Amino acid sequence: MNSYLRLLSYIKPYKLRLISAILCMIIAAGCNLYLPWIIKDMIDDVLLNKDMETMKWICIGVVVVFLIRGVFYFGQTYLVSYVGQRVIVDVRSQLFKKFQRVSPAYYDKHQTGAIMSYVTNDVGAMQAAVIDNLVDLITEASILVGSIGMMIYLNWQLTLIIMVVVPMVSFAMKKFGRKQKSTGTVIQERISDVTSRLQESVSAARVVKSFVREEYEIKRFDEVNYLSFRANMKNVQVSSFMNPTVETLAAMAVAGLLWVGGYMVTSDVITAGELVAFLTYGVNLANPVKRLSRVYGNIQKAMASADRVFGVLDMDEGLYNKENAVVMPPIKGKVEIKDVTFSYTEGEPALEHLNITAEPGQMIALVGPSGSGKSTIANLLPRFYDVDSGAILIDGMDVRDVTMASLREQIGIVPQETMLFSTTVMENIRYGRLEATDEEVIAAAKAANADEFIQDLPDKYNTELGERGLNLSGGQRQRMAIARAILKNPAILILDEATSALDTESEKIVQEALDKLMVGRTSFVIAHRLSTIFNADQIFVVEDGRLKEHGTHDELLARGGLYKTLYDIQFRQGEGA
Ligand SMILES: Nc1ncnc2c1ncn2[C@@H]1O[C@H](COP(=O)(O)OP(=O)(O)OP(=O)(O)O)[C@@H](O)[C@H]1O
Ligand SMILES: [Mg+2]
Repeated sequence: MNSYLRLLSYIKPYKLRLISAILCMIIAAGCNLYLPWIIKDMIDDVLLNKDMETMKWICIGVVVVFLIRGVFYFGQTYLVSYVGQRVIVDVRSQLFKKFQRVSPAYYDKHQTGAIMSYVTNDVGAMQAAVIDNLVDLITEASILVGSIGMMIYLNWQLTLIIMVVVPMVSFAMKKFGRKQKSTGTVIQERISDVTSRLQESVSAARVVKSFVREEYEIKRFDEVNYLSFRANMKNVQVSSFMNPTVETLAAMAVAGLLWVGGYMVTSDVITAGELVAFLTYGVNLANPVKRLSRVYGNIQKAMASADRVFGVLDMDEGLYNKENAVVMPPIKGKVEIKDVTFSYTEGEPALEHLNITAEPGQMIALVGPSGSGKSTIANLLPRFYDVDSGAILIDGMDVRDVTMASLREQIGIVPQETMLFSTTVMENIRYGRLEATDEEVIAAAKAANADEFIQDLPDKYNTELGERGLNLSGGQRQRMAIARAILKNPAILILDEATSALDTESEKIVQEALDKLMVGRTSFVIAHRLSTIFNADQIFVVEDGRLKEHGTHDELLARGGLYKTLYDIQFRQGEGA
């Protein structure tokens, strides 16, 4: 109920349209109610009294009533759909906003497919509840109330007979409704599983093919697909049981009516026309009751989706700006990592008591075995995660005391994996600074040594990149990322294996670009290939999240520790090659 009220609260901005829609519905429903009245006049006046004048008017009346009904039916459908679609668009847009705001930690823990499922399937289910069911709810409710009103007007004693089954029907509906909500939850979870598995195996298509795991994937998909079928059938069981139950109750009421009504006509308490009209209303009643019970079930099912969607909207975003957070002034570039301990999952620290100080403009190299925590350090500087203890200071300010936007605007990252968007090369680079002119974009591409390969693309800078930019090579993608960073012109630069996908030849070219880019900025360079960091101002060697050694290339070599070992391995490999 709470979720439904909350969903309805989204309608507020479109109140006027909804009120007009409801008026249309009531008028259209009122037209429906007129029909049994016509039958009564037809029997009592025309057929029994042979009054042809009345018949003429009845015929005209039928056409006019249906014309009016048609006009208002159009109004009702159009307006309700308008309101419903707007509500859904608003909910979807809020969900998207939420997904933009949540911290990266959320994406570590949730499957992409499940997130897609919220925005598509769950919102879709809510759409059904808002639009179709709202129309049914109001139309059928007004027919129900109107019919009962007419029946009371015709004969209240007979109406009482019908009223006997009302509590039974509402009891049954409540029971079924609760069941439908719980089966609805399961249905949405199963669909989310299907979406997740689909998304996973589509994005891992190459891996699947290289291991020839198509059959295996098909089997895995069919498993969740079948579970989804089962969940749906469970729901069908409930809902298809509900209709006959309600109908049987209705039939009992009609039987009672026939019995008592027939007796009343033969003893001249009511006319034959009145009984027929009454019965028509009575039979008509079955429709709204049936539909309302279905609507009720659908709404319960949709509320399971609404609960999930509102759950997402209400969830903790993980990272917030402090209430008194200030805008980060232009960064000069001093970075201090002070006694930082951090873990992605509790009890498994990725970094422990780490200390690193970088002076403005320095080039800092982070070296260490795979999984030692280098990328984690890079994640903490733009505050993608909050430290567990210790602090990260930039120009002496704790990153938690400034707004995330003003901090991240001034930090450029060339990540291990480059994400490209499905738009043109030009727009992809412009992502670094949206207001950059075409000339500035091209200049950045030239500085990143990307211009050359872009000139070879079919439409040059206007070439559309495929989904995830799959039609560029790893090295080309990295140069795109570097061009983005150049365009952003950040005070602090983070290069996480920025040249790892390049061959030695292109690496030299890109390294030149990077060297130029690093001038005058504090840079953190993560590199497996030590040759790229020989001239770093300070090299920090991490292992298992702890600082092992620290110094310049020469100092570390002289020390003969882990750095020397790593160096020797690579140097010998180099010689061997
Ligand atoms: N998003 C995450 N969620 C949970 N654990 C993570 C996450 N990212 C990294 N880790 C863990 O934290 C540790 C440090 O990982 P990190 O990515 O910082 O290593 P790295 O030094 O960059 O390694 P590589 O050289 O292979 O890139 C690893 O044990 C890793 O499993
Ligand atoms: Mg890494």
